Amino acid sequence: MKAIVLVDENWGIGNGGDQVIYIPGDLKYFRETTMGHPVILGRKTLATFPGGRPLKGRNNLILSRNPDFAPEGAEVFPDLESLLKRAPEDSFVIGGASVYAALLDCCDTAYVTKVHRAFPADCCFPNLDRHPEWWVGYCAYSISGDLTESVWQYGMDFLAVEELLVTNRLVTQARERGLPVYVWSVYDEERMQQYLEMGVSGLISDYPDAAAQEIADFRRSRPHTQYQISR
Ligand SMILES: NC(=O)c1ccc[n+]([C@@H]2O[C@H](COP(=O)([O-])OP(=O)(O)OC[C@H]3O[C@@H](n4cnc5c(N)ncnc54)[C@H](OP(=O)(O)O)[C@@H]3O)[C@@H](O)[C@H]2O)c1
Repeated sequence: MKAIVLVDENWGIGNGGDQVIYIPGDLKYFRETTMGHPVILGRKTLATFPGGRPLKGRNNLILSRNPDFAPEGAEVFPDLESLLKRAPEDSFVIGGASVYAALLDCCDTAYVTKVHRAFPADCCFPNLDRHPEWWVGYCAYSISGDLTESVWQYGMDFLAVEELLVTNRLVTQARERGLPVYVWSVYDEERMQQYLEMGVSGLISDYPDAAAQEIADFRRSRPHTQYQISR
């Protein structure tokens, strides 16, 4: 199970029953990421959607203790136990605060869009920076030009950058800060070698077997370096 959320710099997510901010690019990302997957949400979050209607193209699994609450096109669960029996592994927890708090322990990944501003907020997502069991990474993509120096100010455990953004300078700066840097989505074996030569810590690819082979070959030639692979 995964969670997806937009937070401000204090991990605030909502105020007065609505989201702290709506960003068109993030709404698109949310739609693309969750489309086709079941979504798990609380009754109050459903009320924030246009017309209070469930999201299209996704099974909406809604928590409510109200036995009379029966929105069209959604399944309603009176408690976590009945929800968890029914929720498939590829479900996304999409809020709000009470549901994130209740189900975070069931999630292996949280897709967090962090807006580096503080908004008035009356509810929060759990602060993952204070949860040592969560490894917090920044994913940089869809940026033209180089990443700015400001990226280093965000407390992170690793940096993941899309191919177009990988430079020797970036990898060197990350390594100087002791931060692993991963590159995605790498499909081409020649490029996989090139990034490993640059010193990236791992490759993220839809071809994990090819990436694993390249890493194994690279490790044989440089037995002192360790690399990781994830899909
Ligand atoms: N920034 C983001 O990405 C994001 C995403 C989603 C939501 N939000 C914000 O989060 C806020 C809403 O969060 P919230 O915590 O107030 O409300 P919520 O989690 O959306 O919904 C709470 C309701 O869900 C039901 N519920 C929760 N836990 C349950 C359980 N264990 N068993 C049965 N029912 C349960 C109850 O419904 P009944 O009262 O009907 O029993 C409860 O009142 C809003 O401001 C919203 O905009 C932000």
